[in-house]
Amino acid sequence: MEIIILPTPGDVARTAADVIEQQVRRGPCVLGLATGSTPLVTYKELTDRYRVGSLSFRHAQAFLLDEYVGLPAAHPQSYHSTIRDDFTDSVDFGAGSVHGLNGMAEDLEGEAAQYEALIAASGGVDIQILGIGTDGHVGFNEPMSSLGSRTRIKTLTRQTLEDNARFFGTPEDVPHHVLTQGLGTIREARHLLLLAMGGAKAEAVAAAVEGPVAALCPASVLQLHPHVSVLIDEAAASRLAHREYYTDTFGRKPAWQGL
Ligand code: PGA
Repeated sequence: MEIIILPTPGDVARTAADVIEQQVRRGPCVLGLATGSTPLVTYKELTDRYRVGSLSFRHAQAFLLDEYVGLPAAHPQSYHSTIRDDFTDSVDFGAGSVHGLNGMAEDLEGEAAQYEALIAASGGVDIQILGIGTDGHVGFNEPMSSLGSRTRIKTLTRQTLEDNARFFGTPEDVPHHVLTQGLGTIREARHLLLLAMGGAKAEAVAAAVEGPVAALCPASVLQLHPHVSVLIDEAAASRLAHREYYTDTFGRKPAWQGL
């Protein structure tokens, strides 16, 4: 795990966008997209680069991490709609190249299995963007999720219902069930970019990065992945015990190494 502490959320977004841009420029690739507030600045940065003509996504495919069960794709709070509004409709992904889970599927287990097969058939995810929940979830893998889990249905914690109530009204209005890529699925992506900004994420970041690998903090499983970049601002880093070491190491990193 490489922990990179940056002064502002804008610096986090620019650094994440640089990694994604380099990947996209190398040729056809598969991006794993997260929804939520965290990646918004990164998506804005990528959209700006597209608008000035320096970047194109026409050879990229994308897979979403998760979806609410019971929301049709056209619902404004579905993650299908959200990613289109926040990013993919503003750039030039080809028709049919942005994939998400169908939260309305009658056979949710079948839908999950089909999604896994589609990711595998695409060649696997090159770069996966991840946020982190205040309860340590990644995707919607809530605490006590199996560290080897595959795409499946999950029940949201009270904490996540409260965190996401801002999009729906009250916690009771938030769908209680979701489909999410599993931790085992996410771990197969070749490069993971975990983004976090703000003090509300500081405790979850500390547990994920410096705590034990434990299902109680699902993001801690990323410690087992060979290529994880944790991009966080000062506020999200505020509970880390070894901040100076991370900053010093990053400061001395040879430029040729990249992220
Ligand atoms: P947020 O959510 O980016 O909206 O804070 C992150 C998450 O729940 O994974």
